[in-house]
Amino acid sequence: MQNLPEYIDWFRHSSSYINAHRKKVFVVLLPGEALEHPNFSNIVHDITLLNSLGVKLVLVHGSRPQINAALQEAGIESRYHKGLRITDTESLQVVKKIIGSLSIDIEAVFSMGLANSPMHGADLTLSRGNYITARPLGVLDGIDHALTGVVRKVNTAAIQQHLEGHNIVLLNNLGYSPTGEVFNLSAEEVATEVAVALHAEKLILFIPQQGIVDENGNMVSTLSPASAQNVLNAVHARQENTQNGIAQALSAALKACSRKVARSHLISFAHNGALIEELFTRDGSGTLVSQENFEVLRPATIEDVGGLLELITPLEEAGVLVHRSRELLEAEIGFFFVIEREGMIIACAALYPLDEQCGEIACIAIHKDYQDTGRGKDLLAALEAHAKRSGLSRVIVLTTQTTHWFLEKGFTPIEISELPEKKKNMYNYQRNSKALAKSLN
Ligand SMILES: CC(C)(COP(=O)(O)OP(=O)(O)OC[C@H]1O[C@@H](n2cnc3c(N)ncnc32)[C@H](O)[C@@H]1OP(=O)(O)O)[C@@H](O)C(=O)NCCC(=O)NCCS
Repeated sequence: MQNLPEYIDWFRHSSSYINAHRKKVFVVLLPGEALEHPNFSNIVHDITLLNSLGVKLVLVHGSRPQINAALQEAGIESRYHKGLRITDTESLQVVKKIIGSLSIDIEAVFSMGLANSPMHGADLTLSRGNYITARPLGVLDGIDHALTGVVRKVNTAAIQQHLEGHNIVLLNNLGYSPTGEVFNLSAEEVATEVAVALHAEKLILFIPQQGIVDENGNMVSTLSPASAQNVLNAVHARQENTQNGIAQALSAALKACSRKVARSHLISFAHNGALIEELFTRDGSGTLVSQENFEVLRPATIEDVGGLLELITPLEEAGVLVHRSRELLEAEIGFFFVIEREGMIIACAALYPLDEQCGEIACIAIHKDYQDTGRGKDLLAALEAHAKRSGLSRVIVLTTQTTHWFLEKGFTPIEISELPEKKKNMYNYQRNSKALAKSLN
C-alpha cells in the first residue's frame, strides 16, 4: 500500500473523532440528484462505515428530479409556487410510485454485502415506517397547494427505538395525516424537522457543489448563521435557480440552527469521501453552519477525562509530559481547563495551587493538528487570569522541552531551591526539568 505510514497516522488520529461521534444522532439528507450520481455507491459505503462506528443515522431521501421526469413522461405539468410543488391527486399517484420505487432501490443498495466489497460483513438493517404526520399546506397567496403538505409531528419514540437497535432509519418526502391522506412534502423540511425533534447532533445536507464559495471563489469551511443568511440573501438576490440545492440546503441549515441543532454540514454528493473528510478531518470538506461558537475554552468536567487521556497519552509516551493515570485525572479534573472543538478535546492545561501565593502550570498540551495557532497562548492566559482571580501572585512551571516557549511568555528561570516547599520536596532530579516562574502582579 502506498503512503502506509500516513494512513496509519491518519487512522490513529481518527480515534478522537470516532469517540466524539459515537452514539450521536446524525440526520442525513440525500436529494434525488444524489441517488442518481455515480458517487452514490461510495456515499452508501461511508454511511455504512458510520453505522459500524456507532453513529445513529436517519437518512431522508428526496425525489425531485425523478418525480419531474415521471410527471413529464405521464404528460402531467409540474406546477410550482415559490419553489414548492403543487400536488394534485393525479400527480400524487406518480409521486407515490416514484418514492416507493426509490426507497426500495435504496434498501437494495444497503443490503449488498458482496465479499471483497467495503460492505462485506456490515450486517445492516434499514427501517422504514409512517413516522411523519403531515397536514396540508393549504392555500398560499390564493393558490391551493392541494396534497402538498408540511410536517405536523415526528414520531420520535418509534425512530429512537430503531436507532437504539442499531438500525438506520430511512425516511422519504411523504407524510400521513390522521384522516388517512398522503401528503407530498419537501425532503429538506422532513430532514430539518426530524433533526430538531430528535435533538440531533448534526444535520448533514448533500448538495451538488463542494460547499459555500465566497466572492473570490474560495471555499468557506464554517459559517455563522448571520453569514449563512447573507449568503442565502445573495443567492435569492441573484435570482439563481432555487432548484440548485444551495438555497434549500442553506434554508434548512438556518432553520435547524435556530432550533437548537448545533451543526449543519453542507457537503458534496459528487465528491468521493466528502462525508468521511467532513467528519474525520480537522478542516472538513464542505461548509459547516453552526449556531454556536464551535470552539470553547472552559473548565474541564469529569466527562472530559476520556478526551484528555487521548490528548496527553502520546505526549506522555514521548516523555514530554509526566504520566497521569485515569484515576489521578479524575481526582484532579477540577484543576484543568480544556479547549473543546466540535465535541473533541483539542487542548488542555492545569493550574495546581501549591501554597497561598503560588500555583503550578502543568500538563499544557495542544493537539498536534492545532498547534502554532495561538491556542497555547490563550490557555496560558486563561490559567493566569484564573490564578489571579484565586488570589495567587505567582505561577511556576517545570518543563523539559518547552523552556523557550515559556520564556517568551514572560517566565524567567529560577533555581530548584526557589520552588515552593511542596514542589521542591517532590522534584524529580532524574527528569531534570527546568524551573521557571512568572509574577502575576
Ligand atoms: C508548547 C505548546 C503548549 C504551545 O502551544 P501552541 O498553541 O502550539 O503555541 P502558540 O500558538 O501559542 O505559540 C506558537 C509559537 O510557539 C513556538 N513553540 C511551539 N513549541 C515550542 C517549544 N517547545 N519551544 C519553544 N517554542 C515553541 C512556535 O514555534 C510558535 O512560534 P512563532 O509564533 O514564532 O512561530 C504546544 O506546542 C504543545 O502542546 N506541545 C507539546 C506539549 C508540550 O510540550 N507541553 C509543555 C509541557 S510543560
